[in-house]
Amino acid sequence: MNNTHSRTIPADALVIFGVTGDLAHKMIFPALYEMVKRGVLTVPVVGVAASQLSLAQLHQRVEDSVAQAGKVDDRDALNRLLSLLCYVGGDYNDPGTFIALKQALGTACRPAHYLAIPPALFATVIKGLGTAGLAEQARVIVEKPFGRDLASAQALNRIALSVFAEDAIFRIDHYLGKEAIMNILYFRFANSFLEPIWNRNYVSSVQITQSEDFGIKGRGAFYESAGCLRDVIQNHLFQIVALLAMEPPSYQGFGAVHSEKAKVFQAMRPLQPDDVVRGQYSGYRQEAGVAPDSDVETFCALRVFIDSWRWQGVPWYLRSGKCLEASAAEVLVELKPPPQKLFDDAAAVNERANYLRFRISPNSAVALAARVKRAGKEFTGDQHELYLLDEQTGAESPYERLLEDALAGDGALFIREDAVEAAWAVVDPVLNSRHQAHLYQPGSWGPKEADALIAADSRWHNPVPEKDMK
Ligand code: BG6
Repeated sequence: MNNTHSRTIPADALVIFGVTGDLAHKMIFPALYEMVKRGVLTVPVVGVAASQLSLAQLHQRVEDSVAQAGKVDDRDALNRLLSLLCYVGGDYNDPGTFIALKQALGTACRPAHYLAIPPALFATVIKGLGTAGLAEQARVIVEKPFGRDLASAQALNRIALSVFAEDAIFRIDHYLGKEAIMNILYFRFANSFLEPIWNRNYVSSVQITQSEDFGIKGRGAFYESAGCLRDVIQNHLFQIVALLAMEPPSYQGFGAVHSEKAKVFQAMRPLQPDDVVRGQYSGYRQEAGVAPDSDVETFCALRVFIDSWRWQGVPWYLRSGKCLEASAAEVLVELKPPPQKLFDDAAAVNERANYLRFRISPNSAVALAARVKRAGKEFTGDQHELYLLDEQTGAESPYERLLEDALAGDGALFIREDAVEAAWAVVDPVLNSRHQAHLYQPGSWGPKEADALIAADSRWHNPVPEKDMK
């Protein structure tokens, strides 16, 4: 550790490595524009990339990006953003690039370096920053994926920690910047009614679905090196599990939340091949950049156990996929049915017991399903949802929220070293030792083998448009 870092001091410059890349174009520039509009981005922004680009060309890219996001509703703010920008072109392996960056930073001495670059370059850039003396008092924001297995995550952590202090490393998982996901933490611990039932005595299973009705969108080469398990499950879905499963933090402060989340991953049973069903949509092998005999999964379903006092024996089912029937993300916490079959509709009661549903996207909602009696002589009823929360306006996009926090030095919504490694330790055993991917039809809910995975305890709840639920 060769620098000390105070996480409360705001950064005085933002450096974006990979400023000509896809992520910058799709997500980062629109987020920066919104931040300028709200007055929370006033520091210089230095873009870095390999190509030789004029400042005018960079300005054009930013304008295109913001326009494509459909948002040029404040021309002054856009001009202010452009005036904050400068550009440094150069190879990340060339020390000259970092010298040029140092010059571009001028008097700024507490930069936040954002690595929006391919993961293979993370270590090179971190080392380059260290060698050039650009890490002192600085922080580094690292995009996902952080490692591609346990060993590479550990190696990357070692390199990052040899240059930056842990509280100066901001590992991004953009799911943590989503309001609906922050609400899981709030909802669990700002209410007391949940706690008595939030355990193996009342919860029969938990399922999380994150589905997309589109394919890999031209990211064949990336996807071939990742697959669904690495791309969204080990990070986004695991983060949701941690928030749902964690113990109450013992004090008010994000360090306590980070510790409790890490403990969840540490208590997860390492996966075995039979806990995982992988699928591949028919047509994937014809996508650009994809091997004609690829076995990479575009769908993945898991059964996970958390061997803690609270969750012992409760199966957690996680599923995600591309080219599925609908785009949505949802959690369903299924409660155990009543112990006695007192009414004529007991079969229906058992078929779908009460549940708590967190809708994460495309809209945000919390719903609690309970049965109520139908009018009439019979003691039979239907399950209805108590609808607790719906869309709220004014939410910042995840990238806005996370970049603003990173610039301010607030690490609450980022991932700590121990958590990242513990999450990799869970999936590590099945990264290489696994069953073949099953083909599924685009527009379906994935391969039927995924239904068999859950069949002993439940069945998949396929997210439906919210208007059909109420
Ligand atoms: C990204 C993955 O991290 O998350 C993508 O690389 C995926 O493959 C995306 O589509 C999903 O994020 P969101 O916010 O659209 O649910």
